[in-house]
Amino acid sequence: MSLTPAFLDELRARTSLSTLIGRTVKVQKAGREYKACCPFHNEKTPSFTINDEKGFYHCFGCGAHGDAIRWMTDQRGLPFMEAVEELAQAAGMDVPAPDPRAAQRAEAAKGLHDAMAAAQGFFEEQLGGIEGADARAYLGKRGISDATRRAFGFGYSPDGRGRLKGALKEFGEPMLVEAGLLINPDGERDTYDRFRGRLMLPIRDIRGRVIAFGGRILGAGEPKYLNSPDTPLFDKGRTLYNIDRASPASRNTGRVIVVEGYMDVIALAQAGFGDAVAPLGTALTEHQIERLWKMVEVPILCFDGDSAGQKAAIRAAMRALPLLRPGHSLAFATLPVGKDPDDLIRAEGPAAMDAVLNAAQPLVDRLWSHEQTVAPLDTPEQKAALKQRLAAITEAIGHPDVRAHYAHAFRERYDALFFARPAFNNAPRGQGNSNAARWQRDKKGNWKPPIAPVGQEARAIGATGMEQRLLRAILASLLRHPDQIVRHRETLASLHVADRALGQLLAAMIAASFRKETVETDGLLTILGPGEVYNMAKGMLRADTFTFTPHRMTADADRVTRDLEEAIGVMAQGPELEAALAEATRRARDDLNEESYAEQQRVHRLKMDHESRLAELAQSDDIE
Ligand code: UTP
Ligand code: MN
Repeated sequence: MSLTPAFLDELRARTSLSTLIGRTVKVQKAGREYKACCPFHNEKTPSFTINDEKGFYHCFGCGAHGDAIRWMTDQRGLPFMEAVEELAQAAGMDVPAPDPRAAQRAEAAKGLHDAMAAAQGFFEEQLGGIEGADARAYLGKRGISDATRRAFGFGYSPDGRGRLKGALKEFGEPMLVEAGLLINPDGERDTYDRFRGRLMLPIRDIRGRVIAFGGRILGAGEPKYLNSPDTPLFDKGRTLYNIDRASPASRNTGRVIVVEGYMDVIALAQAGFGDAVAPLGTALTEHQIERLWKMVEVPILCFDGDSAGQKAAIRAAMRALPLLRPGHSLAFATLPVGKDPDDLIRAEGPAAMDAVLNAAQPLVDRLWSHEQTVAPLDTPEQKAALKQRLAAITEAIGHPDVRAHYAHAFRERYDALFFARPAFNNAPRGQGNSNAARWQRDKKGNWKPPIAPVGQEARAIGATGMEQRLLRAILASLLRHPDQIVRHRETLASLHVADRALGQLLAAMIAASFRKETVETDGLLTILGPGEVYNMAKGMLRADTFTFTPHRMTADADRVTRDLEEAIGVMAQGPELEAALAEATRRARDDLNEESYAEQQRVHRLKMDHESRLAELAQSDDIE
């Protein structure tokens, strides 16, 4: 199906972005725009702006930006078409129908969705009723709060063969059978309820619609969990439990945790880890891996430390190899033997879970250590066999660049393990956090900036006079409020500054911010001086440099924070937007179609808006 740009424009025009966003985020009117605390990153003061007139949102803090469709795909996690459909429905527009068969399928699915929704209502009602007492007690015993119970839609299926069947009879038996709610033993005998006397957990799709159920037995017994069969709505291998809630949560955390069980997901959410999902009792499929990669580049797979858990980890690792592509990988967190996340959190609290997640291994490390444990490495033949196994892994990798780097990494480690001269102390590389471009101390204990990761080179800041002026104002403000440097350290450290002297001053300020004396200007100056950088800082403080906040003693701390956050955000975004525009333009040039053109235009508009915002800030006469 093709959606014309005119249709999409109409759709955007008919959608009130602030209303749409206001459904999930608290928005405040601010002049002609709306403001909110950014749902894409953690912040206390709003730097997220919604412009209804132009139909886009923009975060000056983290750079999140987009239109209504983008909101639905990025924040709600919907696929593009579903985002369009949902918006069109709300706007009273008909999405051009693709083909009649698809329309028929959609019609049939609608009935099934209604049946599932009705079943969910029935189960929830039962949990609250007389017959639900045992199930409620069970939830209490497992420490599930009422809020969690509601959030995850727990229910109870009463113990009888015809309870749901009776309650939902208006849907007709064939539909209830197709929905997997009734069992039809051999197509002739009487149908009866699939779920009887179980605690019910609804399984929802990305849009939050119930598409299946898992039912847990209350006491001991087999099977512990009974799940819906595959139906037109439910394909086990393509579903992840809790994706509808984890997807927006992962936007805030930049993380997705994959655990094994339903109850693990729920215990994690209750402990504040809202970004967890689980497969439905099977090994991760290719489809599920791809789905996870739509949320974040490196999902964390969290498995039990016992042999079954570790086997599952390696199986997932092997399955991912053909799919790997630049930036996309898996990380592996290992739980203490015999404890699932639910057990761990209950025994040791959320901090223990954090520790497990922080120790997650990159895929390359996981594979390397696994291959060393599967067989002894004593004889020359055994050592050579390791090389063969590593080669087999490398060959399974589909993407040529990723493959080349794996080959290289394995070769280095292999050589270091067997051929290194002891004097060189060739410890295996890549242990721990691989994405870390971190500040490190040199021998004298001074902090040294990270080396920018390859490919993240942005153009220098200060190429235009306006930017230069803004940068000076920011530095002057930070000199007056050195306690603010820490807040913005990461962003500041990512800036490439064109002017050498300003760049040096910024680097010195960042380095100083690691020390506690830096909360005050005098402390900062002491650390900086004496020298060129010190003189420059002194000069800036002496001169009536334009700053974002009055430099009198009365400066309101909130205001300082807010102004700086916005200014730094806008400045850092220049190079990003420029790169995005270059990329969108390249794509549109290479493959010109409605979508690539619209995207290019969109980024272009953002760029123009950004420029006027920059000009406003740099021209600001807001000095009291
Ligand atoms: P677990 O037994 O680890 O689940 O099975 P759990 O969530 O920790 O269960 P609790 O804590 O005892 O309630 C992991 C997953 O495997 C599937 C379910 O999806 C479960 O969440 N499973 C397990 C089944 O489908 N059927 C079963 O009989 C058991
Ligand atoms: Mn468990």
